[in-house]
Amino acid sequence: MTQSTKFWDKIAEKYAKQPIADEAAYQKKLAVTRDYLRPDMEVLEIGCGTGATALLHAPYVKHIRAIDFSENMIAIAQGKAEAEHIDNVTFEQATIEDLDMPDQSRDAVLALSILHLLRDKEAAIARVYQMLKPGGIFVTSTACIGDAMGWFKLIVPIGRFLGFFPFVAVFTSQALADSLTNTGFELDYQWQPSQDKAVFIVAKKPG
Ligand SMILES: C[S@@+](CC[C@H](N)C(=O)[O-])C[C@H]1O[C@@H](n2cnc3c(N)ncnc32)[C@H](O)[C@@H]1O
Repeated sequence: MTQSTKFWDKIAEKYAKQPIADEAAYQKKLAVTRDYLRPDMEVLEIGCGTGATALLHAPYVKHIRAIDFSENMIAIAQGKAEAEHIDNVTFEQATIEDLDMPDQSRDAVLALSILHLLRDKEAAIARVYQMLKPGGIFVTSTACIGDAMGWFKLIVPIGRFLGFFPFVAVFTSQALADSLTNTGFELDYQWQPSQDKAVFIVAKKPG
């Protein structure tokens, strides 16, 4: 078990109970995503946490495979799926880095509040590109701390050292957009509710 897995396992129950920080922005992201979804779609969600978003999108697609490396997050997500009688979402404990997924097999991949937590986001973006079918979409919501005020950039490493934060990568929204387009994605939709909020991007693999 890595230090980051322990962090997420420890906070899983609290995370599940936390109210959404910006409900209006969350609802808008759900609605924009839903416009891209189709009933025959095979979807992957990486870093699904306690499964709330996957369960909300489930009625609009064929199947969602939702993964997270935290055992406790996955246990909560599975409990919710059972309670809500949703059977087209498979929650699974797995890391993004070691995920076994055939190339060109997914119509959509969701990565919400996760790319900034990865040590190698470029590798993850390249892997997502491979697993998407031509015309497939990559929906991301990412904290771009590189755009934030200087003091916040300092707090992140201090918080990590004290064990308050997991690993958090520092990059700008422009760097994220460049990573996506350099991999081959076309940016189809981009929205940031305000400068201190996560950047929401829907990127398309050319068809
Ligand atoms: C900030 S939470 C976001 C959860 C959910 N996507 C949401 O929007 O509420 C990040 C999640 O990513 C998971 N995670 C972080 N690094 C991961 C990795 N390398 N592989 C799989 N899951 C990871 C954590 O366990 C945590 O549940």
